[in-house]
Amino acid sequence: MNTSDSSKTSSPAIERHIASGEVCCDPVWEEAYRRFESPEEEIEKFIKRLKAMGFQNHDPDNRVIELFCGRGGGLTALKRLGFNCLEGVDLSETLLLQNEPGAKLHLADCRDLPFEDATVDTVVIHGGLHHLPDLPEDLARVLSEVHRVLSSEGTFHIVEPWLTPFLRFVHCMVEQPLVRRLYKRGDALAVMIEHERETYEQWLNQPAVIRDMLRQNFLPILDRTAWGKLHFSGRKR
Ligand SMILES: C[S@@+](CC[C@H](N)C(=O)[O-])C[C@H]1O[C@@H](n2cnc3c(N)ncnc32)[C@H](O)[C@@H]1O
Repeated sequence: MNTSDSSKTSSPAIERHIASGEVCCDPVWEEAYRRFESPEEEIEKFIKRLKAMGFQNHDPDNRVIELFCGRGGGLTALKRLGFNCLEGVDLSETLLLQNEPGAKLHLADCRDLPFEDATVDTVVIHGGLHHLPDLPEDLARVLSEVHRVLSSEGTFHIVEPWLTPFLRFVHCMVEQPLVRRLYKRGDALAVMIEHERETYEQWLNQPAVIRDMLRQNFLPILDRTAWGKLHFSGRKR
């Protein structure tokens, strides 16, 4: 199934499990994402989140896989926390090519993971599930794949947008033209929301279904919503 790595030493090595170029990212969304926060700001945010989820107490030799890893801010955060067996999965080769060296990268669909059963200690997702086109079907596929690849003691950790009162307030604010003109991050967020509206709203509108599916597959260690985010960590059932 796998074909070979990139031969360029300056580019990260990518194992391709789907045809390259099969999927491309939305350039307008990408540009807004870059305006929303710099790579360094994003890495600092991920480090804080990972510490809040207790990652500093995990074994640094654990095999950790980040799904929907994009340009790799989450993998860099894990590397800075001392993890040394890291892998990332994303559909966009353009974004995978922006990753720092250090993690093994897979051009693959998270609904069909390229890993053997029960071989992974930890799976992490920072804002990827809300990009799935069909809910709840695609979520069921990803969760079933995560469950399949995790070892019996394996853990699963996600941070995704959640329709808390704070997020409703943010939505109202970034719809105001004046706010968008004066607050550049707000404008970037509004562009990102416009360009992912269909999957984003589909995700935000199914909280009970999503939580039930998470809890059916994983025994919760942490299940908290705050500041527009769901933080869920669970152990494989
Ligand atoms: C919000 S971005 C995540 C960004 C990432 N946390 C980062 O640091 O760059 C969502 C990512 O999900 C990827 N994606 C969307 N659907 C996917 C799928 N079915 N399988 C794998 N990756 C997918 C996109 O290519 C994009 O990189």
